[in-house]
Order: sequence, then C-alpha cells, then structure tokens
Amino acid sequence: MEKSMKDLVASFADQLKEAMAIGRGAKFSSPDKEIRNVVITGLGGSGIGGTIISQAIESNCSVPVIVNKDYFLPEFVNENTLVIVSSYSGNTEETLNAMNIALDKNAKIVCVSSGGNVIAIANEKGLDHIIIPGGMPPRACIAFSLTQLFFIMNGFKLIGDWFIQDFESAITLLINEEEHIRSEAYYLAEKLHKKVAVIYSQSNYEGVCIRFRQQINENGKMLCWHHALPEMNHNELVGWTIPNDKLAVVIFRNETDFDRTQTRMELTKQIISNYTPHIYEVHSKGDSTIERFLYFIHFGDWVSWYLSEIRGIDATEVKVIDFLKGELSKV
Ligand code: F6R
Repeated sequence: MEKSMKDLVASFADQLKEAMAIGRGAKFSSPDKEIRNVVITGLGGSGIGGTIISQAIESNCSVPVIVNKDYFLPEFVNENTLVIVSSYSGNTEETLNAMNIALDKNAKIVCVSSGGNVIAIANEKGLDHIIIPGGMPPRACIAFSLTQLFFIMNGFKLIGDWFIQDFESAITLLINEEEHIRSEAYYLAEKLHKKVAVIYSQSNYEGVCIRFRQQINENGKMLCWHHALPEMNHNELVGWTIPNDKLAVVIFRNETDFDRTQTRMELTKQIISNYTPHIYEVHSKGDSTIERFLYFIHFGDWVSWYLSEIRGIDATEVKVIDFLKGELSKV
C-alpha cells in the first residue's frame, strides 16, 4: 500500500538510514579529466537537494558548485565538469534536455533517479548512476536525493568523508527530537494556516528556507515567500511599509549565525513588528551544519503536513503540476 504523506514525513530518519546504505554501496568510474567544477541539474523536489548541498559544503569543497534548474547548462560546462543529473521520475523534460547538453559537451555525468528516461539513457551510454527507491512523491524523497549528492561529491574526491558522521549524528538527533519537532511544527502550523508565511534565515540557510517554502506550496497548497539576510536588509525590508495582519514571518535561526547577522535579525524583527505582530523564530538543534539543515528540513516538512491537516486538504496530490506536464507533453 502507498504510504501517506504523513507516514513519509514521519519516516525521514529511516529514509536517511536507507539512503546512507545506498550511498555507501555506490560505485563511480574514474573521470578521464580533472574535475574543475560541478553543476547539479534538477527541478523542484529533485533540484532542492542541489541548492542545499551547495550551501552545506561551501567551506569544504575546493571547486565551484553551481545549481541549475532549467533546460540549458551554463556555457562553461565542458569535459572538466561533473554534471549531476537529479530527477526522481527520470522524465522531467528540463532535466533531460540539460542531460543531453551535458552529453554533447562530454561532461562527466552521474545520475540520481528512481528510473525513467534518465536511467534508460544512463544505461545506454554507460553513465554512472544511483537508483533510489521509486513510487513516492519526489519531494518526499529528499532524504535519498540529498544524501546521494554527498556520496557523489565524496566519490569524486571533491569533499572528504566527514559528512558520514554528521549524517549519522543527524539521524540520532532527529529520532531523539521527533516529539519536540512535531509539537513545535504543529504550534507553528496553527499560527500559519490562515496567513501568508514569509520565511527568513541567514544566507547559507536559504536552501532550507526554499525547501520549507516549496513544502508549504505543495503539501499545504498555499502561497508563501522567503528571503535571506543580510541581502533582504538592502531591499525587501523597504517593502515593509503597510501593516498587514495576513503576513506571518518565520525566522530560521542558529547559534552559529554570524554575530552581525544576528544583530541584523534583531533589528529586522523590531522594524517588521510595526507591520505585523506575527513573528516566529525557530531555533535549530545540532552541532554540525548538516544536522541543522536536516533539522530544519524535517521541521518544515512537518509544518507543511500539519498545514494540510488543519486546512483539510490532500497533502500528496499535485494535480496542477501533473496537468502542466501532461499539456506540455502534447505540444
Ligand atoms: C513533486 C515534486 C516536484 C517534482 C518536479 C520534478 O512531489 O516535488 O517538484 O520534483 O516536478 O520532477 P522529478 O523530481 O521527477 O524530476
């Protein structure tokens, strides 16, 4: 029987364990050329892992990591580029187009998918690939897609194996904090269900804010936006001029956020409190960036599920995305 979205969210720690086992078993062929840059290409639930890893490893990876969410690849891509193709279904047309361009450019390609055309092409062309379990909504499989990206980066010696311990600690943290995360998430969902959420964090946590926004969109069927500090202090802050009770601000915070950015957050809260009384802070737990990222991902996933429950809607269905993909396939 298909698992409900609630069960899928609840099984995040188990999925991470399974994902680690898959990653540990993955084998990669040696590249013919030195890898000088990385492009991770994928959309939606399959692309967000790219954004998150690019931020998680920015202080550990010696080559630039670019995230691509379109049909085309940047001009610099060549035989010295590692292109990671991420598509859960393996049939997303933008990703397939980008994959074909990577083939034309002789880039080193590794695919992460549950099947579809991506795996068919990978088999036909003899490309490295990791197959993740299928039959679930792509966004509910971030544990698989994100974890494999770390193993791929490590397999190509672009990061060390430090992430393995951080993932193991994160799994323990999530299991231990499950009750706390759920009750905080429910509390926040009750505050957000009639509002438009505005999510803020420090820049390097923007990926997990985007994930949260996407989950509010897809599971909660609600509009939402996000921005990051310090950048929003230089533009969006000026947009806060009219009191608006519909807006609720959620700030993802970490003890490790840069001092000056924390001061900015305090001042930003003061300014925004003139326009909405609904300002909530979520404090991460965990000793490493990976633990904190996974904590926020899981927390946000629960909020999105509780939003669907409170609003009495089906978290799983994304009929409008299916409709759009269907219409596109006809033309
Ligand atoms: C659906 C979802 C979508 C898909 C996106 C790309 O759960 O999250 O954002 O991830 O439409 O499709 P895939 O992941 O199959 O490449």
